[in-house]
Amino acid sequence: TFKLVIAGGGSTYTPGIVKSLLVQKDRFKLNELVLYDNNAERQEAVGVIVRHVVEMFDPELKLTLTTDPEVAMTDADFIFAQMRVGLYAMREQDEKIPLKYGVVGQETCGPGGLAYGLRTIYPMVELIDYCEKYAKPTYWIVNYSNPAAIVAKATFRLRPKARILNICDMPVAIERNMAEILECDRHDLEVDYFGLNHFGWFTKVRLNGEDVTEKLKSYVAEHGYMPQNAKSDVLHSDPSWLHTYENAKNICSAFHDYLPNTYMQYYLLGDEVVKSSDPNHTRANEVMEGREKRIFDAVADYRAGKDVDLTKFFGGVHGEFIVDVAMSLAFDLRKRYLVMVENNGAVENLPSDAMVEVPAYITDRGPEPVRVGEIPTFYKGLIEQQEAVEKLIVDAAVEHSYEKALMAFTLSKTVPSLLVAKKILDDMIVANKAYWPEL
Ligand code: G6P
Repeated sequence: TFKLVIAGGGSTYTPGIVKSLLVQKDRFKLNELVLYDNNAERQEAVGVIVRHVVEMFDPELKLTLTTDPEVAMTDADFIFAQMRVGLYAMREQDEKIPLKYGVVGQETCGPGGLAYGLRTIYPMVELIDYCEKYAKPTYWIVNYSNPAAIVAKATFRLRPKARILNICDMPVAIERNMAEILECDRHDLEVDYFGLNHFGWFTKVRLNGEDVTEKLKSYVAEHGYMPQNAKSDVLHSDPSWLHTYENAKNICSAFHDYLPNTYMQYYLLGDEVVKSSDPNHTRANEVMEGREKRIFDAVADYRAGKDVDLTKFFGGVHGEFIVDVAMSLAFDLRKRYLVMVENNGAVENLPSDAMVEVPAYITDRGPEPVRVGEIPTFYKGLIEQQEAVEKLIVDAAVEHSYEKALMAFTLSKTVPSLLVAKKILDDMIVANKAYWPEL
């Protein structure tokens, strides 16, 4: 049996993860589940829903809510990390500051992602240090914390021996849509893929061994990743997300080689994305007014004794995926998933220290990446540029270097010039005073 900690326990994603864990309780038995967060109030609120999940699926389970890292991590086997440093108020800044200068405003891509990266690197390192100090020596951190590409790069550089596996739910969310399009179970799909996190391409998709890549490519070129008869719970259902899934069709009809991760729109169609963005009302506002409000209002009603259906707040591929990965680590299942690993030749013509996202077999010693081979010039060029951006922002944090940060901002494909990069960076320094390492 395992002690499992969710770091970022106050996230509204927590109930979904807990449900995915507890439906596996016969195979993945927990002796204790800990929610750990530095924001006690938020965590208590989310804890109301989590208690409900526990009562439904595993009423005997010991559930602990704490803000104390020692209590949380002592003898932990698994730590699921999903911290959001600065919460949605800072996500709003990450999105709005670039948009003010006509640049893509997004939580993980472009200047917003770099700002978020600078906020997150050291709190993630601190989390690793707590695990090293208090958790079992065989601990595994499975990390969702964004911006995952920068977090992966920074943690590997600063804590190379840490037992951390960085993952992302976007590829598997796209696979879920592919499965809807093909009218099959997503577990029957196997994909080949290369790139960085939120920056990659599916090169092959097989359904029970049969190559369905061409079929999907022609579908996506016409409809994007929008299944025609989507089940209501299949998509991120907000309009901005539908737009994201749709935009894939422009990329797919321009370049016929591969199926893009939807995040490629920010790099290849940045001008289009900016045109359809509202600089005064971004995704952060949608989330704060939508998902966050719905959940915290429901908790308030529940606490006030009203009749509330809390079950609609847990479910989805996000929770399922992290549990699948953890089970493969725990039981040496060697399941094949897309995860972030140090390149080391997995993509032959990319730097060996790049943190790439590729398929890997997940064993109890960690991921065994599949060797992807060489990739063509266009993709290699794009990835090398983005990889250098991520490297420079980690350098900026470690060396306290304004110049390195400016280089990162300038090199981002989303930013048109040095002067624009400087304006965005200077605004961001002010906005992030409470969070960034000094530059
Ligand atoms: C996807 C990505 C995550 C990202 C999330 C944002 O799931 O894989 O990296 O954090 O979308 O979703 P939201 O609903 O908060 O905009």
